Amino acid sequence: MKQIGIIGSGAMGAGIAQVAATAGHNVTVYDNTQSALDKAKTNLENTLKKLVEKQKLTEEAAKGILARTNFANELNQFKDCGLIIEAIIENIDVKQKLFSELETIVSDDCILASNTSSLSIASIASACKKSERVIGIHFFNPAPLMPLVEIIPAITTDEKITKESKSIIDSWGKVTVLTKDTPGFIVNRVARSYYGESIRIYEEGMADFVTIDWAMKTFGGFKMGPFELMDFIGNDINYKVTESVWTQFFFEPRFKPSLTQKRLVEARLFGRKSGRGYYNYAEGTVLPEPDKNEELGKYIFNRVISMLINEAVDSLYLKLASRDDLDLAMTKGVNYPKGLLKWADEIGLQNIYNTLDVLYELYNEERYRPSILMKMMLKDNKKFYE
Ligand SMILES: NC(=O)c1ccc[n+]([C@@H]2O[C@H](COP(=O)([O-])OP(=O)(O)OC[C@H]3O[C@@H](n4cnc5c(N)ncnc54)[C@H](O)[C@@H]3O)[C@@H](O)[C@H]2O)c1
Repeated sequence: MKQIGIIGSGAMGAGIAQVAATAGHNVTVYDNTQSALDKAKTNLENTLKKLVEKQKLTEEAAKGILARTNFANELNQFKDCGLIIEAIIENIDVKQKLFSELETIVSDDCILASNTSSLSIASIASACKKSERVIGIHFFNPAPLMPLVEIIPAITTDEKITKESKSIIDSWGKVTVLTKDTPGFIVNRVARSYYGESIRIYEEGMADFVTIDWAMKTFGGFKMGPFELMDFIGNDINYKVTESVWTQFFFEPRFKPSLTQKRLVEARLFGRKSGRGYYNYAEGTVLPEPDKNEELGKYIFNRVISMLINEAVDSLYLKLASRDDLDLAMTKGVNYPKGLLKWADEIGLQNIYNTLDVLYELYNEERYRPSILMKMMLKDNKKFYE
């Protein structure tokens, strides 16, 4: 088994290290801040202790994981690694510097991967002489619990590296999906409408956010409504991802951020972590009641799901990923109750098209244009799953 290197021992790096060591690899973890490294070690010990207490892990297995995890102070301790996953600060200059330094330490056949959420893999790979060994391996937070991992070859990545990376991560018990190196990859791109269209409905005064959350849970079966979810993720993080996807897609109107969320961020109303976002999390706060008007609820659900499905259909059209991988990504990465393409078949593509077409006519905005693939499939009377 390859020795695995993890660089950055924050939320993601520590989680990925735990997954790799649990799968039986020897893992070396490095961070340029000693306190972050110490914290990761203590957290791992505590997590494993809890898993043993809950009988989810034997004491022997926990000892094995700890023994296989080595916390390093210097990058040259990575020289024997077969795969290194970087999970440091989201900054292209810092990542490029690290990747070019790593290349001087590791052997020629070591795979260099980045866990970046928003930077292009091509730009990170460009810092390396052997750019064909650089790939994106994108875990979700928390890595030990979230099953999905997006595998993102850059334009320069060797196909063998892609296959090998996928097979390693599959062997860790994760669900891998293969996707193109475009902004937001699958999940962070396709999920944008869940937030964006919901905020828009709220901004236009059609419904308050509690009602929108109620509608998406009641008529869509989503575990969390969009506003509950944004508060959970953190409005600062959610806003940053939206802004990054929007600007990287050359200001595509479908991804346009909202002033409502920007103001929340400026006011430091980040959500759960700051005690207040859309909702107030102070103890004793009485939750506002939704307007349980069925007609309104169904309108909200139809509008948001149509935007989500349009994004998934367009992603399929642009060969971002396969049908199955697009659907797996949304069910395993963000817990959607169904894959969006499967959902499209169930609701009927014509119904989705009609909802979008009405909005397109009404607003005269590019944001609502139905994907060309939707038109082509309707013309041929096709479904995604025959
Ligand atoms: N947090 C998430 O939900 C999430 C999900 C998927 C991907 N990501 C991506 O994973 C990466 C890490 O995110 P995170 O949330 O774990 O961040 P974090 O802030 O929790 O951890 C980053 C760690 O990297 C260390 N670090 C910074 N610069 C370094 C350097 N030059 N060398 C070594 N260590 C360095 C920091 O000390 C810190 O401990 C980012 O690229 C992020 O976009 C984050």
